[in-house]
Amino acid sequence: MKPLSEKHLAIEESKTLAINAKANELKAAGIKIINYSSGEPDFPTPEAIRQKAIEVIKQGHVRYTATPGIPELKKAIVDKFKTDNGLTYEPNQIIVSSGAKQSLYNTLQVICEPGDEVIIASPYWTSYPELVKLAGATPVFVDTAGTDYILKAAHVEAAVTNRTKALIINSPNNPTGAVYNRETLEAIGRVATKHDLFVISDEIYEKLIYEGEHHSIASISDDLYQRTIVVNGLSKAYAMTGWRIGYAAASKTLVKLMANMQSHATSNTNTIAQHAAVEALTGDQTPVGTMREAFERRRRVMKEAMDAIPGIKSANARGAFYLMVDVSGLFGKRHEGKELNDATDVAALWLEHAHVAVVPGVAFGADHVMRMSYATSEKEILEGCSRIKSLVESLQSR
Ligand SMILES: Cc1ncc(COP(=O)(O)O)c(C=O)c1O
Repeated sequence: MKPLSEKHLAIEESKTLAINAKANELKAAGIKIINYSSGEPDFPTPEAIRQKAIEVIKQGHVRYTATPGIPELKKAIVDKFKTDNGLTYEPNQIIVSSGAKQSLYNTLQVICEPGDEVIIASPYWTSYPELVKLAGATPVFVDTAGTDYILKAAHVEAAVTNRTKALIINSPNNPTGAVYNRETLEAIGRVATKHDLFVISDEIYEKLIYEGEHHSIASISDDLYQRTIVVNGLSKAYAMTGWRIGYAAASKTLVKLMANMQSHATSNTNTIAQHAAVEALTGDQTPVGTMREAFERRRRVMKEAMDAIPGIKSANARGAFYLMVDVSGLFGKRHEGKELNDATDVAALWLEHAHVAVVPGVAFGADHVMRMSYATSEKEILEGCSRIKSLVESLQSR
């Protein structure tokens, strides 16, 4: 048999599989696991959006649509950019895709050539490096642990080579919860302009900010507007992960290339979900605020509980629904004679002996941290953190 695609053989499976497998094994044995590993809101999609989808099916809007999306949805997205971000786009600068993930995939496919480099802040969202590799390019990581998990202009400057094609900004950030302020974005933007880089700005957690405010790097200058591809979606803000609605805004040329590619790969995003997305973006926004407030309370509860555990330091989680905790203070300690050497060991211990599932930092390129999602009830947050505390306090020192 001929060999399979080298590019695809180089794509790694999800680093969280081992932890998931163990969690499933414990669940199958009847053990109740408190799950902090989820990457999605635990709320139902707001009622009006669900009703809209039912109506759309009854009305028979079930055919293919234009690849980049139905005009009503593109208009709703154009209006959203104007109102929320002060950005002016024409409808033909917008493409709707099956989740922000496909928008990112499309973007990287149309801008990258083999040999190109793409700068990514680490810890990073687990899919970025693989999406870059799928586009034939090379991810270049910049460690942000020393700067409060914020990518700085100096970091970008130091990482740029003559092969650098783009950099990815993700604010609010998964997995760190960091939110970039305007000055930082301006400084990064100057480096992007100086070296003629594309900027991919993943703004999917825009609506989930508890300290600071959202700025789109595309709104900083005309030059940055031209070179930025803004990626966003409805999964997180509207609790619509399963509906698969994401979108990108960029120059007409770039969007045309993405639409050409998408027309051969997956065609339009699900028609019913597109109509429901119009309702989400143009209807009553109260549920978005209600969910944000709930996340804000849960964030405080989780942060306070984790900060009370000796040896653990949590990051300034200002947005999204993740608390990143540094567990390096536990390395070298022992549980039943077994030494903890990295975050993966600590995550395995918490799962097995506290029955709490978290995502170890190896999934995000940082072996000293864990990502704990607070997209779960306050009761579960208190219960899980208290179990972790007891377990950590029982560890033996070297
Ligand atoms: C940073 C970030 N970007 C993009 C996505 C993709 O979201 P979706 O494809 O559901 O729109 C996620 C989902 O976890 C994410 O955390």
